[in-house]
Amino acid sequence: MQPVALVTGAGRGSGAAIALRLARAGAAVVCAARSLESVHDTADAIKAEGGLAWAVHLDVTDPATYDDAVAELEPELERRGGVWWLVNNAGIAETAPFLRHGRETGVDIYEKHLRTNFHGPRRLIERFAPAMLERGHGRIVNVASSAGLRGYPYAAAYVASKHALVGYTRCAAAELEGKGVTMNLVCPHYVDSPMTDGTVGRIVKKTGRDPAEVRAFLAKENPGGSLVSCEEIADVVARLAGGDRNGMLVELVGGRGLIPDQEAEQWRTA
Ligand SMILES: NC(=O)c1ccc[n+]([C@@H]2O[C@H](COP(=O)([O-])OP(=O)(O)OC[C@H]3O[C@@H](n4cnc5c(N)ncnc54)[C@H](OP(=O)(O)O)[C@@H]3O)[C@@H](O)[C@H]2O)c1
Repeated sequence: MQPVALVTGAGRGSGAAIALRLARAGAAVVCAARSLESVHDTADAIKAEGGLAWAVHLDVTDPATYDDAVAELEPELERRGGVWWLVNNAGIAETAPFLRHGRETGVDIYEKHLRTNFHGPRRLIERFAPAMLERGHGRIVNVASSAGLRGYPYAAAYVASKHALVGYTRCAAAELEGKGVTMNLVCPHYVDSPMTDGTVGRIVKKTGRDPAEVRAFLAKENPGGSLVSCEEIADVVARLAGGDRNGMLVELVGGRGLIPDQEAEQWRTA
């Protein structure tokens, strides 16, 4: 049967690339994000290639929207046995000195990041993994970050939320061993995506530096010397979804371009 893949944050950046790549790998793809217009674009791109896709409004911080999305897709989803592959890709990244919790905005930056980057994936897993376990087959890929493995200045909230996701995934994968459902981590360094455009914009605003110079600086920060491409992330996610390895952590260090090169990826046990 054609597997159904749910990809969060599928409206742009790596999520859009992952959705397209999984459709090319034969999945019917549920493209999810808060902005419906953006996920319609991704679903349309998949359909233009002859694939099957749906666009749904889903806010990872609001579990009621998970059920709304599922209800919207019935009976198509039920006929296909529900969600087989879940890619937790949606994420946010804001910067602030570690002692500033958001006094200016009234929003606690730590809570905000944890809600989206950690509790979002956890709640989606809690929503969809039980059916996978019942079926004895499922693939869960969590897109964390190098920020789940190390620290970066002015990114304490983002880094803490990604560390939480990494730690959680390590435990869950260990519990899933041998049950037919796998859970793996993808940890890219700086990615060539709209999120990084935002980072560049913020640095430019603060420092007055040249945008191209800032982008080149971020690329140099990556161990591979260039930004990770969204297609590279999509390729790794497709390999994890299509295979049966569990508890892997794939670190994407940049410098691979679009050509498969195992040396630019580090596959290791989570
Ligand atoms: N960019 C990097 O350098 C980098 C590096 C390592 C890891 N990552 C991780 O890779 C993932 C994708 O990043 P990206 O660079 O592609 O980011 P992006 O270009 O900013 O895209 C983020 C996507 O997530 C969606 N999203 C955000 N909040 C959401 C929510 N509450 N519910 C549902 N969807 C939500 C956005 O759509 P809406 O706003 O319409 O909801 C958008 O489609 C993230 O988890 C990020 O942390 C990024």
